[in-house]
Amino acid sequence: MKLFIKYRNLILLFSVLCCGFVFISCDQKEQNTKETSAEPTQEVSQEITAVPDDGKEKEEDNVASTTEDNAYYENYTKTGVLASIKDVYKDKFHIGVALAKHDIENKIKANFVASQFSSITCENEMKADFTLDHAATLKKGDEEFPVVNMKNAVVALNFAKENDIKMRAHTLVWHSQTPRWLFTEGFDKSEDAPFVTREVMLARMENYIKQEMEYVNTNYEGVVYAWDVVNEAIEIGDGHKDGIRIKNNYWYEIIGDDYIEQAFTFARKYADKNQKLFYNDYGTYEKSKLFAICELVNKLKEKGIIDGVGLQDHIQIDYPTTLDYQYAINKYSELGLEIQITELDIACPEDTEEAQEKLATRYRTIFSILLNCLNKGNANITSVTVWGLSDDRSWINKPDQPSYPLLFDKNLKPKRAFFGALLDPSVKKY
Ligand code: XIL
Repeated sequence: MKLFIKYRNLILLFSVLCCGFVFISCDQKEQNTKETSAEPTQEVSQEITAVPDDGKEKEEDNVASTTEDNAYYENYTKTGVLASIKDVYKDKFHIGVALAKHDIENKIKANFVASQFSSITCENEMKADFTLDHAATLKKGDEEFPVVNMKNAVVALNFAKENDIKMRAHTLVWHSQTPRWLFTEGFDKSEDAPFVTREVMLARMENYIKQEMEYVNTNYEGVVYAWDVVNEAIEIGDGHKDGIRIKNNYWYEIIGDDYIEQAFTFARKYADKNQKLFYNDYGTYEKSKLFAICELVNKLKEKGIIDGVGLQDHIQIDYPTTLDYQYAINKYSELGLEIQITELDIACPEDTEEAQEKLATRYRTIFSILLNCLNKGNANITSVTVWGLSDDRSWINKPDQPSYPLLFDKNLKPKRAFFGALLDPSVKKY
């Protein structure tokens, strides 16, 4: 007892210190548990992460990590050597660009395209307005045989073949940029000419698809790897029970509900074995449209006549949200088909440094999502195409409503957006 009294103060001090230690370590443990349990499982994080997983740790799987080697912007500003986006992504997916005939006829542009892209798409020259030859059709005089003439597309096809670049063929069956005479009796061009019957129209559809595919595959074997067989066939606002576009859509008006299936059936019949058949659309992240597309594509998949979904991705800086964008990619991936981003551009009405930096971040976000989905094996993304080579050539850049949505400026100088698409460390993350 005497001893206790003697050392009372020392014992007290020791007890206080021990309690403190136990308290601190418990608190620490709780903190750790909180951190661990807050970490979502991979599947859950796929569903719920609004911000793409492009943290340093996760980015390790991506081609463009934050290492010195991949400081593309710094390297470019110091040495003037520009990275090639197709090379950066060569083990991931094709990097494509939409081109007009005159882009390719310009030697400087053509060489630049060959150095940056592994895939091209004709911006217009493979659309029915450009491939159907009215005079030749009348001359042939066969009610079931619209004549195809690919003279507008040969510049692109030759360029692709000579430079070992692959091509997306865009597009066979579409309500737009297709002449009305394709649907009328006697291929009559007058405004009120009556339409042919379903039977005649199906025969025309088959002959049209057959000619185009046979021409391409005979003369340019191995060049086209993907066909947009049907474009923009879902329009929820039109009120069809399955969401099929019914207004101003002569294919639908004459053939009926199964026109999409018919087109894919013919396309499968005439496509080369290794060519992939795509359904392509815009606004693919809008929920009701997304579900209608998935339903349509599932039916085509059951019949074995489709290989992939093309997401146009004409998007904006803040629309759709990354959450909706990621959700859509996950949903389309669940179909078990290929996914291609077919017409990427991001509207940006200003050319200021600040606006363009935001655009760069948005490109970074989109490419991060695509890479993360691909790297985790969640999505079979095989191609990403930007819709135009340079801002001055963008279809959304109009004199009364300018937009600067692409990777290169009018002098083919890389914009900050280019480095965003490379996930360059100099571009701010989301
Ligand atoms: C656009 C072209 O870029 C324009 O030059 C043309 O005037 C209209 O069509 N969805 C598509 C593309 O599938 O074919 C469209 O291309 C853009 C929207």
